[in-house]
Amino acid sequence: MKTSSFLYLAKFWLKTVLFKKKDPILGSVIITDRCNLKCKHCSVNNITSIMHPYSQIQKEMQTLYDMGARILFIYGGEPFLWKDGNLTIRDLVIEAKRMGFILVNIVTNGTFPINLPEADLILVSLDGDRERHNAIRGNTFDTIMENVNKATSDNICFYMAINQINKDAVSEVCKITKETNHVKAVSFNFHTPYPDTRKLLLTSEEKKSVCATISKLMDEGAPILNLKSAFPYLVNNSFPTPCYQSVIIENGKISVCGRCIDEPGLCDECGYFFVAEYTLLFKGNLKITFETLKTYLKFI
Ligand SMILES: C[S@@+](CC[C@H](N)C(=O)[O-])C[C@H]1O[C@@H](n2cnc3c(N)ncnc32)[C@H](O)[C@@H]1O
Ligand code: SF4
Ligand code: SF4
Repeated sequence: MKTSSFLYLAKFWLKTVLFKKKDPILGSVIITDRCNLKCKHCSVNNITSIMHPYSQIQKEMQTLYDMGARILFIYGGEPFLWKDGNLTIRDLVIEAKRMGFILVNIVTNGTFPINLPEADLILVSLDGDRERHNAIRGNTFDTIMENVNKATSDNICFYMAINQINKDAVSEVCKITKETNHVKAVSFNFHTPYPDTRKLLLTSEEKKSVCATISKLMDEGAPILNLKSAFPYLVNNSFPTPCYQSVIIENGKISVCGRCIDEPGLCDECGYFFVAEYTLLFKGNLKITFETLKTYLKFI
């Protein structure tokens, strides 16, 4: 990261902490909810199946920028399915960078060839070893690994949502992360229980055990893009919600934190690590702040 970008983010952190501000820094844009998969834990695919046009997405990215967001996430649905004439996801990334976003990140299921060198981070969802990943995501493990191996840049991070099916596969995913070309790190979330996927939620005891495993792997030097100091808050769901530093836009609708904000009671059971990490960081938690610096400067 450029020094000027780092200083911009540091100044934003200081202003937020000192003046208890609620301005956003992280923006997400949903470019389509269409998806080629139907993962067992997912409640947000193919609800409208609309591909939003380039001009609309460009305006939405500009809206996020004008609101103050400088870190952009582009996802869906499956963002690599997105097209408008000859334009693809790569054109959206290039446009976001031109607008001035400091970091432009994509979240993908990895089932399409990965040629996005302009992105800062490509989060490829990997939900276990072959057996457990395929149990959740259909028969896609081998295709994903082939696409990651053939990727044209080294800006990939695996992204795992931990649930009842794959809770024992965390060590395997770390091992795969270390052994796979082009992959910098892995980042975890716990399952967030929409009404139709409640059965996949982990209990606090199970979350505690998974966090102990992740901590041990971190101590052993595994490349993990999460903050250990946030684990107790994630186990007990005791972090503040929602995260005011995050805004999301989908088809013109702007929501604070996540599109899940409208699901009654869901924030009390939120499993998204970024919410715990960001809310604690921007409340000025010192342990989290030092760990953020150490972790993010290492991987980003
Ligand atoms: C909705 S998907 C969209 C991007 C892309 N289709 C993919 O699968 O990576 C974004 C991420 O959210 C995760 N996810 C979906 N439903 C979830 C849930 N209920 N709790 C936690 N993570 C979830 C997915 O595993 C994926 O890593
Ligand atoms: S690939 Fe992503 S959007 Fe599609 S069903 Fe799976 S988690 Fe949902
Ligand atoms: S805190 Fe609420 S809105 Fe934010 S990601 Fe979690 S469930 Fe969604």
